Amino acid sequence: MDGTLVFLGIESSCDDTAAAVVRDAPGGAEILSSVVEGQVALHAPFGGVVPEIAARAHAERIDHCIEAALAEAGLGLDALDGIAVTAGPGLIGGVLSGVMCAKGLAAATGLPLVGVNHLAGHALTPRLTDGLTYPYLMLLVSGGHCQFLTVSGPEDFTRLGGSIDDAPGEAFDKVAKLLGLPQPGGPAVEAEAMTGDPRRFALPRPLLDRPGCDLSFSGLKTAVLRARDGLLAAQGGLFRQDRADLCAGFQAAVTDVLAEKTRRALDLSAVPALAVAGGVAANSTIRAALERVCAERGVRFTAPPLRLCTDNAAMIAYAGIARFRADGRDGMDLSARPRWPLDSRSPALIGSGKKGAKA
Ligand code: KG4
Ligand code: ZN
Repeated sequence: MDGTLVFLGIESSCDDTAAAVVRDAPGGAEILSSVVEGQVALHAPFGGVVPEIAARAHAERIDHCIEAALAEAGLGLDALDGIAVTAGPGLIGGVLSGVMCAKGLAAATGLPLVGVNHLAGHALTPRLTDGLTYPYLMLLVSGGHCQFLTVSGPEDFTRLGGSIDDAPGEAFDKVAKLLGLPQPGGPAVEAEAMTGDPRRFALPRPLLDRPGCDLSFSGLKTAVLRARDGLLAAQGGLFRQDRADLCAGFQAAVTDVLAEKTRRALDLSAVPALAVAGGVAANSTIRAALERVCAERGVRFTAPPLRLCTDNAAMIAYAGIARFRADGRDGMDLSARPRWPLDSRSPALIGSGKKGAKA
């Protein structure tokens, strides 16, 4: 199957309702439209994603997003060659909303239905955005996931390691919370860190003393909490500089850990390129450190533009086309899977992040 294919993609696995249309032609792939409706405001009062609220919002908004994506692409359903939908991993109510909607559309139009692993969507995005060729190393760092994957084909992933507890974005969010900074915590902590001294507090670099590519961020967050409590006990409150120094120290620790584990993953995988994706990839200190590691190793560094690094449906449409070209398709028995490791050969990781199993 070498010809041009146009797919609708549907994504609803966490707190973004998204639909997109992607055309994949022999000359390259093109995003014809990409609509993402976030739910930040709905969940903000609860300090985290509430699965029931997310599922209801997806069910209410998904058809609007699909209509908007088709309108933006200037296409009707009759112009499509298939429907790709995130079938997991993620919050089950949200994934079900998308899968049921996709099944309805496939049944009504007779179009092929392709269930996509959300993580495969992230992992294949650098092919869509930067034309990366297989194999490459992928570092997914977001609010819900953290893993190193060697990507060797549309359905060929090898996990080299991942977080055994919190995802790094989750740790940024928790540190922001304990320092009284707004959510999402990543950008707030990064802004504070700019005026901070990363050396003032001696914070741990978890798991660096152990071989391999697994990571851990929970103890680091606890170390920030202890340092904060020490300051509170000693001086009755936090000065602005204290907060900046804690943020800078925390960010430096995360950066050191990600850089060293990336070195190890590059050594293990021996691939010519690294792609980084997920919200944490927006952090300029972390990004610069990863770029330096790649330069040291003579490896190409890529990071998709942020709107395609974070959750979206263009990556689902694109991964759906890749799977379809490899003869992957599903019937009306396609089920929604809350957990769905990309690499079934690797042992399961313990941590899944505060937002459920997603990236
Ligand atoms: O990929 P993403 O949008 O999906 C979810 O996991 O929801 O990632 C969001 C995460 C949040 O935890 C946020 O705090 C973090 O990415 N993040 C950052 C930065 N921008 C967003 N972390 C560190 N530095 C940033 N500049
Ligand atoms: Zn994701």
